[in-house]
This record gives sequence, C-alpha cells and structure tokens, in this order.
Amino acid sequence: MGDLFWNKVAGVIIGGVLVVLIITELGHLLVPAHSVEELTADNTAYPVDWAAVGGDSTGAVEVVEAGPVDYGLLLAGADIASGERITRRCQSCHTFDEGGATGTGPNLFDVVGRDIASIAGFGYSNALVDLEGGWSFEALDGFMESPRNYANGTAMSFAGLRNEDDRMDLIAYLRSLSNSPIALPAALSAMETAVVEEADTATELVEEPAGDVVETNADETSDDPMPETAGEDVPADDGDH
Ligand code: HEC
Repeated sequence: MGDLFWNKVAGVIIGGVLVVLIITELGHLLVPAHSVEELTADNTAYPVDWAAVGGDSTGAVEVVEAGPVDYGLLLAGADIASGERITRRCQSCHTFDEGGATGTGPNLFDVVGRDIASIAGFGYSNALVDLEGGWSFEALDGFMESPRNYANGTAMSFAGLRNEDDRMDLIAYLRSLSNSPIALPAALSAMETAVVEEADTATELVEEPAGDVVETNADETSDDPMPETAGEDVPADDGDH
C-alpha cells in the first residue's frame, strides 16, 4: 500500500459525490421545477384535470389557503374503537379509567375539555403549566401531533401521531371517557346538515361509559388483496394465441 493509497480512496469518494451533484444539477436544468401556483397546461408533462384541482382550463391553479380544521366533520367520522387501540401506546405512562392512578403521566379520564395541567399533585413541566386554557379538540390535536412542537420542553416523551385520522380517532375516544362528554363542534362544511346528523349518531355511540367500548380489531381482519386462487384461474394472456 503506497503513501497515496488513502488519497486515491478519498479521490474516488469525492469524485463519486461530484458526479451525483452534477447529475442532480443537470436534471434541474433540463426539467425546471415549478411550485404549485406556477403550474399551467404548458409546463406540466402529463394531462391534468384542472377542474378537479381547482384551476381553470388554461391551468392556472388558484391556491386555496388552508381553512380552519373542520373538527365537527372529522370527529363525526372518527373511529372510536381505533382510538382505543391507539391508547395502548400511552398506557405505559397514562391511566384512562375514572380515578385512575398517576403514572409517568397524569390520568387521562375526562381530559377533553379539562384545564391543561390541572391534575392536582402531578408535577407538570413548565411547558405545560404555561399553556393557557383547556384541552380543546384543537389543542389536543396540536399536542398529539407533536408534543414537543406544541409544548416545547414538555416532559411527555412521545413522538406524536403524524396521521390525522389516528389523532381524530384518539380524540373521539378520549372524549368518550367522560360522564358528560363535551359537545362535538358543529361541522363547518357545506354539507352541514348531513354531517350534523352523523354527529348525532356519533354522540349516541360515545355516550356509553368508557369500559363498554367494544373492540372490533377491524385492522386485523383486513381484506386479503390476493384471492387464494390467483394464478390458477387467471388466463395467461388476453393477447394473441
Ligand atoms: C413516555 C411516557 C408517555 C407516553 C408514552 C405518553 N405520555 Fe402523555 N404525558 C406524559 C407526561 C410525563 C405528561 C406530562 C407532561 C408535562 O408535564 O410536560 C403527559 C401529559 C399528557 C397530556 C396532558 C394532560 C394534562 O393533564 O394536561 C395529555 C393529553 C397526554 N399526555 C396524552 C397522551 C396520549 C393520548 C398518549 C398516547 C397516544 C400519551 N400521552 C403518551 C407521558 C407520556
């Protein structure tokens, strides 16, 4: 191994990185990137259904500012049994039954609508104590998406639930853990009447005491996408033979 061996190795690695960088830059030069607002029929490579994405026939897309989250709509469609399953991930630190013990975290019975950091005798972090108000649907949504971002410095070491459906299922379940669950917010959407009807049925479901929520294990019996006979009865080719 000569003196220059490691120089050569470094040369090969740096050369490799350079080639990748050059290819990336070339790619950007050849195919310019556009942000959503700039997309038109002329600079998209494949046909786009502009009506569906909210643009006119020339392709100009009007970017709609994200409105407020429609908790009425989302919670009315939430799956409480799935929410209960999600709380398995909390049980190492939290109890959920009425009068349940304090663990690493405070008891979470009736937490929806409860004042933030209000369980007497639990040593909350300042991050939580400094938060004003109660655990509204919105506050819980934000905290559960990312405890650390919502309450910087919180003692709750839980990464968060990225998936909005998961958070809505969880919050709907938490709401059910109460002797008098707070009212679901009214849906903001245009389909308001239809949704309010749904919300009413959801209320009936969740007003049962916490212990009675039936577990369905729906996700464990999901449909098998491949029928067992696949490959046997399927004709080999519908082409020429
Ligand atoms: C590793 C332990 C741990 C896990 C796992 C955990 N938590 Fe927590 N949780 C805590 C701690 C500790 C606090 C108090 C945080 C503070 O004081 O900053 C807390 C606080 C909370 C609060 C605020 C309660 C109040 O009285 O203000 C809510 C709501 C909450 N957790 C929900 C959840 C949910 C829902 C899950 C599961 C999806 C979960 N936590 C998972 C430890 C945990």
